[in-house]
Amino acid sequence: MQARVQPLESVIQPISKANGLPNENYIDPIKFQEEIKKVFYPNWFCLGFGKDVPNPGDVAPIDFAGIPLLITRDRDNTIRVFNNVCRHRGMKLVEEPQNIVGVIRCPYHSWCYKLNGDLYATPHVGGAGHNKHAAIERDKTGLFEVRSHVWLDMVFVNLSGDAPDFEQHAAKLFERWHEFKDQKLYHGGDDSTIRLTVNSNWKLPIENTSEYYHLPWVHPGLNSYSRLQDHYYIVESGKYSGTGTMVYNPQLDESGRKFATFPGLSEKWNQAAEYISFYPNIQIGVHKDHLFVIHVTPLSVDQTEERVEIYYADPAMCSDEWADLRNVKKDMWTEVFQEDVFAVEGMQKGRYAPDFDGGKFSPTMDVATHCFHEWVARQLLN
Ligand code: FES
Ligand SMILES: [Fe+2]
Repeated sequence: MQARVQPLESVIQPISKANGLPNENYIDPIKFQEEIKKVFYPNWFCLGFGKDVPNPGDVAPIDFAGIPLLITRDRDNTIRVFNNVCRHRGMKLVEEPQNIVGVIRCPYHSWCYKLNGDLYATPHVGGAGHNKHAAIERDKTGLFEVRSHVWLDMVFVNLSGDAPDFEQHAAKLFERWHEFKDQKLYHGGDDSTIRLTVNSNWKLPIENTSEYYHLPWVHPGLNSYSRLQDHYYIVESGKYSGTGTMVYNPQLDESGRKFATFPGLSEKWNQAAEYISFYPNIQIGVHKDHLFVIHVTPLSVDQTEERVEIYYADPAMCSDEWADLRNVKKDMWTEVFQEDVFAVEGMQKGRYAPDFDGGKFSPTMDVATHCFHEWVARQLLN
């Protein structure tokens, strides 16, 4: 049987006529590599978090879709990102997260680098006992740095180095969320991270969290107090899309204790919460009393790691005293995210059906999903 090949142009049609992205973009390893090159390389994407390197001297290796990268926090708290590779023979430099007391030492021939990437030592490079050689110009042989920008603890990178400035890239989102843009965030600690590995292409978790259409059937618990009609869609073509709810009103325990809220929020946020997929690989959820980020890392064409980090508005919320409520919050979100796994993995399985044509979008309920598909298709057509 000959598999159907759906042209990318059909994705960028008006939603009532459009198809979704073709099957091959979910199941073909060659297409996967093409997406890494065309969707991730030229754009800003989220690599990890400042909390991955909490203390000066910390380094955290992150393999993103097979690309070895290294986040470092310098003594002056500057966060940088480098290619995680030694300039000598190309050894992967750092295998495990750690605190560097002196310099980053390559385990192969012990070339050493400062946390700012400068090449610092090259033992015996000019022969036994000679630690310099004219051919090895230290000031030109530092680690390859990757352009990076930290916003609300998310570490964004632009591998190609030539995307517009991050401020410009995020301008529309900053506009919409001006009240959250510069908030100080406090991560809840070990109990405020959720990790999931799903057997699906990286796009499906993003697509799934971009819509609320599935709520009544996949999240009956959530739907009991936050119904379809309480939601709205958010679409900013070419940048982001997602959903909002008008009835966010957390009841965490019987005593009525409530988490501290972010300062300076307008009335809208007394009841509203919004969940935006900021392309390509994160969804950010903002509420008056916490913010979460769902971070999606592609592992292979059909396997994806999801990490959720939950942040609060006040450092007191991160103390032991609030651990019980943090756990209620975490358990609630864990249940929701786990309920989504079968849907995401089921859509992946469906993409091996040779006649599937990318699917039809509901012009009212799939607007945020289509917006994402259209953005991906445009990156691939570039
Ligand atoms: S490969 Fe790193 S010192 Fe040789
Ligand atoms: Fe869901």
